[in-house]
Amino acid sequence: MRLAILLSGRGSNFVAIHQAIADGSLQAEIVCVISNQPDAPGLARARQLGLSAHLVNHRDYATRTAHEEEVLRILAQAEPDFICLAGYMRLLTPVFIAAWPHRILNIHPSLLPAFPGVDAQAQAIEYGVKVSGCTVHFVDENLDAGPIIVQRTVPVRDDDDADALAARILEQEHIAYVEALEKLRTRKWRIEGRRVIFS
Ligand code: GAR
Repeated sequence: MRLAILLSGRGSNFVAIHQAIADGSLQAEIVCVISNQPDAPGLARARQLGLSAHLVNHRDYATRTAHEEEVLRILAQAEPDFICLAGYMRLLTPVFIAAWPHRILNIHPSLLPAFPGVDAQAQAIEYGVKVSGCTVHFVDENLDAGPIIVQRTVPVRDDDDADALAARILEQEHIAYVEALEKLRTRKWRIEGRRVIFS
């Protein structure tokens, strides 16, 4: 299973996927890492690891489309089976998504459809939910909305602030992303309506 990773920052989900491949719990290969942020720690880590690492800085392109075209060009060369958004903080256009139908995965730090968008963990604290978690899902043209592959739950404690909850959710994100990829690799799956059905 060939994986492309798109990231914008810390890259801990990328590192978790890389780690799972290194320790044999995920049979896959990271064929490219693309960052839109020059100072993303995840990009530096990808370079250190000797992976095919690319900076495609959106500030260098006049339009969103021009930036995406360059990302799409790199992806076409890398020929991934799946594109993993791992803290990639750019919205993808419908053209991008249509180029890779049911091949783009995202991880989001809430139990979708609750708390889409930014600061999901702070939204969860503010709302007062007692359980939150993370969601790995296929990307469609709506924000944080595509068919769900894996979810993992995390209790919300009374003394949690957004940072404490985010840290506890992040531990589960690292497990969930690997679990989702391994399921897609090893199981037969199909999509019916919004549902990802494994058989
Ligand atoms: C993760 O918590 C991920 O769920 C979130 O950004 C963080 C990236 O961390 N993504 C979103 O909020 C997308 N809507 P990482 O760079 O350490 O993987």
